Amino acid sequence: MSGWQAAAALLGDTRLGAPVAERPRRFALDYSSPNVAKEMHVGHLRSSIIGDAIGGLLRFAGHEVVPHNHLGDWGTPFGMLIEHLIDEGWAGARDPARHTITDLNNFYQAARQKFDADEAFAGRARRRVVLLQGADERALGLWHELVAESTRHFEAVYDLLGIELTGEDIYGESFYNPFLGDAVDELEAKGLTEVSDGAVCVFPPGFTNREGDRLPLIVRKRDGGYGYAVTDLATVRYWTRERGCTDLLYAVGAPQAQHFAMIFEASRHAGWLGEDDSAVHIGFGSIVGADGKTIRTRAGGSVKLAELLTEAIDRAAAIVAERTELDAAERAEVARAVGIGAVKYADLRNDREKDYVFDWDRMLAMDGNTAVYLQYANARILSILRKAGEVPGEGTHVVLREPTERALVLQLLRWPAAVRAVIEGYAPHKLCTYLYDTATAFSAFYENCPILAASTPAEIRSSRLVLAQVTSNSLTLGMSLLGIRAPQRL
Ligand code: ARG
Repeated sequence: MSGWQAAAALLGDTRLGAPVAERPRRFALDYSSPNVAKEMHVGHLRSSIIGDAIGGLLRFAGHEVVPHNHLGDWGTPFGMLIEHLIDEGWAGARDPARHTITDLNNFYQAARQKFDADEAFAGRARRRVVLLQGADERALGLWHELVAESTRHFEAVYDLLGIELTGEDIYGESFYNPFLGDAVDELEAKGLTEVSDGAVCVFPPGFTNREGDRLPLIVRKRDGGYGYAVTDLATVRYWTRERGCTDLLYAVGAPQAQHFAMIFEASRHAGWLGEDDSAVHIGFGSIVGADGKTIRTRAGGSVKLAELLTEAIDRAAAIVAERTELDAAERAEVARAVGIGAVKYADLRNDREKDYVFDWDRMLAMDGNTAVYLQYANARILSILRKAGEVPGEGTHVVLREPTERALVLQLLRWPAAVRAVIEGYAPHKLCTYLYDTATAFSAFYENCPILAASTPAEIRSSRLVLAQVTSNSLTLGMSLLGIRAPQRL
């Protein structure tokens, strides 16, 4: 088989030539991970999008991926949140029609304000935390209500985004509570802890502040309580030991880089990360507005993700409205694919370590490196194939005459190498670049190489249809690995 003939062989290969991992590994993938009783913010949006894409890519490569959503669902604020819930009339008689928290941030802030202003309330809140930590049934019941109510908000966002996290993937901070004591005992038995200022700490070697003082991970506070750091140590221990994971991934914003570096270092010393295990912080920058600051709504308030995503779909609907050949239901489907695709792609196309500017016009532009450009390129190819009416087979003879034709085939044959680089670097932006290059290579080819024109000889027409079909397969597969849908018509 000649090199060019390999292009036709791709027709029958759903992997487009990409191999399956010879030694599949088991990944624990921490992503999304918002906080209970707080609105998800853009950091959680990025984590959700990037985490979901990386999970899909790893599965495609043949690995096992266990997602886990590390909800911030435990700790001292829950005392005041539960008390506020009681004051709001939730306790016992929950009536979802009357009591739904429409704005988690307002709920949180109201609780906080009372806590700061009202001594009696603060006292109640402190007693409630003690009860909660002592597994008091009523406190736990109310806490469950808060978690359920918040999860409802998160799931609305996941649903709009079309990402794969479900309730079963929730392993919040509270999940590790029963393991914390053992984890600390083990650290102490291994001689890795020191008492500093009354708190039990681990000082992973190599981490100091500007003054040169060693930096601690606090494993047990002075008052006997446990916090964020020790929970993450117990998390490593759980996923490697109890769940047999070989690779731990954390899609979490860049500001937590040092936290994770310290957790990984301490876990190596504790023997919770073996020589063949990996732990990687998949860090990312923030999303900023045109002014370089945190993005705001039109009214200037903080952005709610569900509203932002609905706006994306509405804006896409305005674009799709011009496509009169689609019926109303199809237009709604396409608007969703285009709107959500735009938000995801705008996030994924940049090197994730960098900040990026949130810009509606740019992310929804029909030309340029955008999701809708790829979606449109793909729909156009599908329309050519529909018009051609014939489905080329794997045995079709591939004839390459024009340089643009050759360039397109070379690009299509580069898929396995592209996917490898994307996975090795946990770098979805490289897949975006690859897909954009594929779409532009097709467009140059299509300009120079007539497919359906009457003057095109039959043999060449078939060969070109093969290239069109493989290009569409590649764009569709690539977009689906990024979590982006490819409408048949646009
Ligand atoms: N809930 C945290 C936050 O919003 C993120 C948790 C990330 N995962 C972890 N294992 N620490 O900042």
